[in-house]
Amino acid sequence: MPRIAGRHFLQIPGPTNVPDRILRAIDKPTIDHRGPEFAGLGKSIFHNIKQIFKCAGPVIIYPSSGTGAWEAALVNTLNPGDRVLMYETGHFASLWKTVAEKLGLVPEIIASDWRRGADPEAIEARLAEDRGHDIKAVCVVHNETSTGCTTRVGDVRAAIDRTGHPALFMVDTISSLASIDYRQDEWGVDVTVAGSQKGLMLPPGLAFNGLSEKALKASEKSTLPKAYWGWPDMLAANKSGFFPYTPATNLLYGLSEAIDMLLEEGLGNVFARHDRHAEATRRAVRAWGLEVFCVEPREFSSSLTGVLVPAGHSADSVRKVVLERFDMSLGTGLSKLADKIFRIGHLSDFNDLTLLGTLAGVEMGLSLTDIPHESGGVQAALDFVAGSAAKETAQRVAAVR
Ligand SMILES: Cc1ncc(COP(=O)(O)O)c(C=O)c1O
Repeated sequence: MPRIAGRHFLQIPGPTNVPDRILRAIDKPTIDHRGPEFAGLGKSIFHNIKQIFKCAGPVIIYPSSGTGAWEAALVNTLNPGDRVLMYETGHFASLWKTVAEKLGLVPEIIASDWRRGADPEAIEARLAEDRGHDIKAVCVVHNETSTGCTTRVGDVRAAIDRTGHPALFMVDTISSLASIDYRQDEWGVDVTVAGSQKGLMLPPGLAFNGLSEKALKASEKSTLPKAYWGWPDMLAANKSGFFPYTPATNLLYGLSEAIDMLLEEGLGNVFARHDRHAEATRRAVRAWGLEVFCVEPREFSSSLTGVLVPAGHSADSVRKVVLERFDMSLGTGLSKLADKIFRIGHLSDFNDLTLLGTLAGVEMGLSLTDIPHESGGVQAALDFVAGSAAKETAQRVAAVR
């Protein structure tokens, strides 16, 4: 293959483009993970990362992919045969259920058409029926990466509270943390599951469990087997900035830089930026005459948009031509959505011009396929982004006057 000039556009919904500042931070000599310099790094990360999770309790960091953090959340809090209530928002929620089954838990899944987030009322109804409190945990995916639908986590919490049910509440934020508003403590989440490769702007390789007091209490009685994933050894070592085994030292340099970058921008601004780019993307999709896969406006994802192509046409044909001609990767449709949708990732280190380049690639790609569509998507997005910029500028000017 001849060399392709310019940078690759990695517009899958994670892993995402890693900014230069983070690449430079990772590109340092590995240090002794049992020495004093490491202890300083560890302590500052364990302290600062709580601001990203919006939690007061500890955040555990594993050298693993997100799947490991799913497993850790379950094995540290539950007992063999425990019933867990899960909601089938899409491919990733289904995979979490499979993990639970393999661990000897009894997942009960509320089915859906994958085109919306978890329904708080359906969860409330099921918990209200469970008078014997056999359900030990409720597990939902905040942002279903396979569909582009979010779950209203605060509303699910309120639904659980209305029933007075004591189940633990676990939330997968793998494609929402640091992209979409998330508040572990305020929303009473007991275990937050997260990964490094999306909103945190890092390469894959770190996974997280953010813990509540109630989760820690449950872990004292949990009898599911665990060794590598066990919280007690981690928490004991983390107190002095260390890990019970060899950590991913260079990714931790990157994590420290990522936290600084997020706090410098301000989490509120990070979320607003993602919301704006998601809205611009949806305007482009509609102008193309295509369908946004998520059907519930309150649950549109701000980190990715699933695009449904008309029946009888191939979503993968767009992805293929966009990769070959424009060197951009778009997300594929997963499991039952294979070849029916493609996914545009608009999260992480992403600005107005990256958005417009991404949408230009999609629009040019569409024109090279036989998918029926209109042009003008890029223009619709551009008008929206330029309009937002004009509004912001006017507000800034008014503020200094
Ligand atoms: C919402 C969600 N949960 C879980 C996972 C699994 O994480 P990993 O592939 O890092 O193991 C992913 C991966 O994309 C995801 O998007």
